[in-house]
Amino acid sequence: PKSWVEPFRIKTIAPLRKISYEERLSALERASYNLFMLRSEDVFIDLLSDSGTSAMSENQWSAMMRGDESYAGSSSFYRFEKSVKDITRFMHIIPTHQGRSAEHILFSTICKPGDVIPNNFHFDTTQANVESSGGDPLNLAISEANYPHLEHPFKGNIDLERLQQTLEEVGTEQIPCVMLTVTNNAVGGQPVSMANIRAVSALCRSYGVPFFLDACRFAENAWFIKQREDGYADRTPLEIAQEMFQYADGCTMSAKKDGLTNIGGFLALNDTELAEKCKQKLILIEGFPTYGGLAGYDMEAIAVGLQEVLQEDYLRYRVESVATLGQKLLDADIPIVRPVGGHAIFVDASTMLPHIPQHQYPAQALGIALYLSAGIRTVELGSVAFARKDSEGREQAAPLELLRLALPRRVYTRSHLDYIADALIHLKHNAAHIQGVRITWEPEQLRHFTARYALC
Ligand code: F0G
Repeated sequence: PKSWVEPFRIKTIAPLRKISYEERLSALERASYNLFMLRSEDVFIDLLSDSGTSAMSENQWSAMMRGDESYAGSSSFYRFEKSVKDITRFMHIIPTHQGRSAEHILFSTICKPGDVIPNNFHFDTTQANVESSGGDPLNLAISEANYPHLEHPFKGNIDLERLQQTLEEVGTEQIPCVMLTVTNNAVGGQPVSMANIRAVSALCRSYGVPFFLDACRFAENAWFIKQREDGYADRTPLEIAQEMFQYADGCTMSAKKDGLTNIGGFLALNDTELAEKCKQKLILIEGFPTYGGLAGYDMEAIAVGLQEVLQEDYLRYRVESVATLGQKLLDADIPIVRPVGGHAIFVDASTMLPHIPQHQYPAQALGIALYLSAGIRTVELGSVAFARKDSEGREQAAPLELLRLALPRRVYTRSHLDYIADALIHLKHNAAHIQGVRITWEPEQLRHFTARYALC
């Protein structure tokens, strides 16, 4: 993919500061070796998250100027609602300040203790929101997803056989909904095929169980369907997205990803009675239903962002720039999840650092080393983020120890990608010197955000 060019020119810039090794080391010590605890001014290239980190367009900024900040009936809400409905066709659109709030409202309303919520793979906040409602978040990704080197065009798919078995064995009384995360972030930003979405939908309808999409990266998923699935090459990303949503009964959405905004999200659904309950909860924790957790200008930015994210030249640039970085790393024999996903590169830290056992968190160790050597901030998506505790409180390691390099949208250029690739290649040559870590303190839930570490 040498052909892509950024389909925009730079209009406003944010300066980047090269930071000395000594400064990085002391910043890291102050942060207790947790990259979430660094100040962003101590980071050179920030690949911690693709969430809320997009550069907005001149059209989004100008739309924000007409933000209507009325408490009720804001015209910005109606523009936002129309933009969401044009894509999803869901009947009820409930604005929230970000994705996890939509998840919280949904799960605290439909999920009771003992319930099971199957998904291809719950992301961290989704898992935590299901658990905090007393439910069991069940991950049913296809088995290929457990092998980073295995190529599969739709490695984000859910295992349909295991889903059906779950519906049979657990029983529909205890499954308030089935979810599919598009793209499947935790296993590598991997897409879900339309055939898989359609099949899940049919299965859910035959069992009478509602089906929700976790739609954060729906546009990237639509682009992969266009590239890889028979019958979709001539369809527009909008048409593909519309078809994806048509199979579902609702979705949760973080507009901080494929909404191309810095904040925002929504819950969308067709069930009027459930929507009413969710709106009552929204009023309690977010705000009146025509603004939820958002300012009028945020809703304007989302309304425009949802249109821009489906443009073909944007999606080609987006997915191919990630693929270009991935190819450079593969050419240098760096073990990454293949094929390359939509929003990030996932380095297989267990393979890159075979001398570090899982209980010394190889992906966290690699993330620390990459920051120390190049000022690049990434995120661990391995046993720190996803380990579960068994009934005796013993830690069960996550299936994969991955370090995610998430690329913010429309932010970094080709030369930044070169810098990132060179930094990882340099680390590969020095991999034997990288040390494992142990956790010295952790909170009860979502420990990766605030845990403290020491080198082993
Ligand atoms: N679902 C998925 C698949 C996500 O990736 C995220 C966020 C959420 C839900 C929650 O959305 O942050 O707006 O509350 N993922 C970010 C990340 C934080 O870095 O992958 P949110």
